[in-house]
Amino acid sequence: MATKKNLIANRTTLAHKVRYAARNPARIGPYVRRAARDSWLRLKHPDHVGYYRAVMASDTARNPEAAVGSQTHDRWLALGKMQFEYLVEHGLAPHHTMLDIGCGNLRAGWRFIEHLEPGHYYGIDISPDILISAKQTLARQQLQDKLPHLTLTQDLTLDFLPDAYFDVVHAHSVFSHSPIEIIEECFAHVGRILAPGGFFDFTFDRTEGTEHQVLREDFYYRTRTLVDLAARHGLKARFMEDWERLGHGQSKIRVTA
Ligand SMILES: C[S@@+](CC[C@H](N)C(=O)[O-])C[C@H]1O[C@@H](n2cnc3c(N)ncnc32)[C@H](O)[C@@H]1O
Repeated sequence: MATKKNLIANRTTLAHKVRYAARNPARIGPYVRRAARDSWLRLKHPDHVGYYRAVMASDTARNPEAAVGSQTHDRWLALGKMQFEYLVEHGLAPHHTMLDIGCGNLRAGWRFIEHLEPGHYYGIDISPDILISAKQTLARQQLQDKLPHLTLTQDLTLDFLPDAYFDVVHAHSVFSHSPIEIIEECFAHVGRILAPGGFFDFTFDRTEGTEHQVLREDFYYRTRTLVDLAARHGLKARFMEDWERLGHGQSKIRVTA
């Protein structure tokens, strides 16, 4: 099922909100409840990582698959398959080592783990709640022998990982939830851990209009902003046109050192 991108909307304007509410009256109640919960969580956790960790704790307690963005199990399976097949088509082979930033509950991760040699998959996430769900996914898929590394993180300095180690670094639907400082932190450090010839793929919510954010949960960036930011950290960034053809709601950029 293809998701149509709205590349010009500024979701923070009153006009957009009114139009959206008129078209989707059933979503008004859930939005108001979410906005109230998020205001409270922002008060309790002024820093973004603390705040988003609390959002994930609340969402995961309700439904871990919905917490990573899939409203049904079929969608959870399909979204993982889409990520997996894309990277395999782009050469991901069993001997490669992979870092999955914001691995969530292994929606795609379990497929990468199954494909890669034991110990070659590293998943990091800021949310302990979703990492517990990740372990449950791993057990359900009977992938214990693959010995993946699943690690809680507070930042994206990647300081606990070795130089020139990862063939593939991947962040699906993570920068769509990240303020620019977090993306910049990642760009400042990812070059160090990429193996020669390695690449870093990430998705983002794209706008061709004004950059904006909603509830500090969803962040919309222009491609140029991210490409230029990567260049300031010595990285080459390229917009992945072939990903657009898959009909996913987010766009993808590939970064190389
Ligand atoms: C929408 S989910 C996607 C999960 C997974 N990549 C997938 O596609 O199924 C976003 C995940 O990124 C994590 N996350 C958000 N900000 C992060 C950050 N700055 N560093 C690491 N993980 C982060 C969240 O906790 C959540 O598990």
